[in-house]
Amino acid sequence: MTHTEDPQPEGDGPFSDYPWPIVRTQPFGPFRAPAERSFLDVFESRRSTRALTSAPLESLVDVFRLALVSRFWKEDDALRRSRRPALSAGALHPISVLLFSDATVYRVNADACALEELDVSADLRADWVSKCKRVLPGAAGAFIALIADMARPMAAYGNSESLVWRDSGALLQTLALAAELYGLGFCPLGILGSEVVAALPEADQLVAVGAAAVGLPA
Ligand SMILES: Cc1cc2nc3c(=O)[nH]c(=O)nc-3n(C[C@H](O)[C@H](O)[C@H](O)COP(=O)(O)O)c2cc1C
Repeated sequence: MTHTEDPQPEGDGPFSDYPWPIVRTQPFGPFRAPAERSFLDVFESRRSTRALTSAPLESLVDVFRLALVSRFWKEDDALRRSRRPALSAGALHPISVLLFSDATVYRVNADACALEELDVSADLRADWVSKCKRVLPGAAGAFIALIADMARPMAAYGNSESLVWRDSGALLQTLALAAELYGLGFCPLGILGSEVVAALPEADQLVAVGAAAVGLPA
């Protein structure tokens, strides 16, 4: 059995963000409001959807913008604490969504409201998509990997890893609710995405914490 110590706040130490290997950056398109639905309707309607087809990139961006973009930043805060729909330990929001769409791998940069096309091999993209499809054969939509940059959690807490795992569950639920609101299907996957991290350069500070399929309900 793993022995897990409680996290301990440790004054904000120095940290270095992971330098993502970005080829080009594409700003999010204009905001598109979701249909008017009550919170109760969305909350009660959300179910995991396993049969999916490909959704337009703009529809995926609608979901990511609503779920991920910061509503408030803590002023003059070195660790860039922010308020977003998902709860996150210490308001750090250290998890990035990597989007594996038809031909491209993007990091969703919610801070800059942009998709960052990543310099990863076509083999990595194909291998990750085929692994996801083995888990969910009916899913022909996009797949996401949740990748945490441990730099800020480790700068703020001792034993920080469990905080990030709990953030990952909260983020999955938030993404699933946002997908439901925009009429998209969403299904978490039990696989982690460690092979994605292994294929990124000098990625010791990254931890793969989850995966999901997202697309139009088939
Ligand atoms: C961490 C996590 C991993 C999951 N992995 C899978 C999976 O690999 N395959 C799958 O079909 N569903 C997976 N699910 C979805 C659950 O099976 C689903 O949430 C559960 O059956 C409840 O159904 P609901 O989401 O429709 O309420 C996962 C859910 C979570 C939270």
